[in-house]
Amino acid sequence: MKNILFSLFALTAALSVQPAMAQDGQELFKSKPCAACHSIDTKLVGPALKDVAAKNAGVAGAVDTLASHIKNGTQGNWGPMPMPANPVTDEEAKTLATWVLSLK
Ligand code: HEC
Repeated sequence: MKNILFSLFALTAALSVQPAMAQDGQELFKSKPCAACHSIDTKLVGPALKDVAAKNAGVAGAVDTLASHIKNGTQGNWGPMPMPANPVTDEEAKTLATWVLSLK
């Protein structure tokens, strides 16, 4: 009986990994300057992040492209306003890009 309880516990822990990662992206977003220019649903200085997800749905390599744009800055994808380089590590940029692409 103890073993069964333990397995159930381990399973629950494994299943909760995915939402926890999505949450990390959002926490990271809030802890960086991103929110000064972006919101999830509305265009501010930069595009609504849901629009970024929609535009990149099914695009091969989108995580890497967006991660590099987040880290190094980019322009001309959405309008005349450029995005400056942001204070993120490669790993943080990838977490943020994955999170942005998961938005619907
Ligand atoms: C100073 C304002 C500003 C800040 C700060 C900023 N962005 Fe942006 N962001 C923009 C603008 C403007 C664009 C549109 C650039 C373009 O047209 O290519 C953009 C575009 C993007 C895109 C789409 C890129 C593409 O290739 O389509 C993503 C994803 C993104 N930002 C995420 C982030 C994240 C994550 C952060 C925080 C680490 C962040 N941005 C911080 C202004 C900003």
